[in-house]
Amino acid sequence: MITKKILYWYDNNKRSLPWRNKCSLKRKEYFTLVSEFMLQQTQVKTVIPYFNNFFKNIPNLNALARVGEAKLIKQWQGLGYYSRAKNLKKSAKMIIDSYSGRLPDNFEELKKLPGVGDYTASAILAIVFNQKIIPLDGNIERVLKRILNLKTEEEVKKENLHKQKKIFGKTSRSGDYAQALMEIGALLCKPKNPYCDKCPITKNCLSFKRKDFEIKKKDKKIIDKFYLATLYRNDDQLLLIKNDKFKFLKNLLIFPMTEISQADSLLKSRNKLNLKMSNMNMNISVDFSNIKNKPKNGLWIKKTKLENFTIPTFTKKIFASVKHNL
Ligand code: ADE
Repeated sequence: MITKKILYWYDNNKRSLPWRNKCSLKRKEYFTLVSEFMLQQTQVKTVIPYFNNFFKNIPNLNALARVGEAKLIKQWQGLGYYSRAKNLKKSAKMIIDSYSGRLPDNFEELKKLPGVGDYTASAILAIVFNQKIIPLDGNIERVLKRILNLKTEEEVKKENLHKQKKIFGKTSRSGDYAQALMEIGALLCKPKNPYCDKCPITKNCLSFKRKDFEIKKKDKKIIDKFYLATLYRNDDQLLLIKNDKFKFLKNLLIFPMTEISQADSLLKSRNKLNLKMSNMNMNISVDFSNIKNKPKNGLWIKKTKLENFTIPTFTKKIFASVKHNL
């Protein structure tokens, strides 16, 4: 039985993660909600200090529902994808207003919470409510593809992976089991050079038998984008504006920016930098201007203060790339 082997391995090898600490069900609900939102697009080792800080500053669901935007964003600064933080707060409000402050224990209701998709709802059901569900995150997907040596476009479609996951079987320890599978994916069944010698289920693994460890990924379309960011200077200050124009970094502080064509981006020899964000390969040209008047959604910030100011990493990277010219 692979279930037993996997749980035995987990009990002896799991990482001690702050959201796995033993606690009351109510606290577990909060821990799981916050950690799963943070883990949606970010790796465990990055999330740990953020989670600890978040819990220190916003210790429970009531505090989260009432937290001010500035404090919330400050807690999230560096994790990226700020819409997750805003959805997390909205979800906390909704749980208090519509579910008496407790997480609903079924898929349909969980999915009504902003920012909770199929994966997060499944993870909550397994981890908090110990329901017999295997959430398919990137790690578990890879373990599944390896065990069954799934290689074709057809085989790696989400729909097929959901069908195939029944090979994992069932256990009364569903929460631990879901996390055990994630842990095998994260610690052993790595994308490159997996540690098969430490894996409890090599005997069940077709990729191991075939010595074929390559993972077939669904093709992800990366799009090239071109922007011109302008650093407006007023003595020792720079202009930031609240972004109400682009879909990314919505309502956060950025340098004024416009999308330009590729040809236009090649035209002048401006300062350039390249940043990746979700599926965008962003080519950013930076130029400078001196103006004194401030648009109404703008804010002058002293250059020396900028690095410690609560602004997205995106904005800080643009600043860092040109600060020697300022
Ligand atoms: N990734 C998503 N949820 C996780 C969890 N609970 N433990 C480890 N990695 C995860």
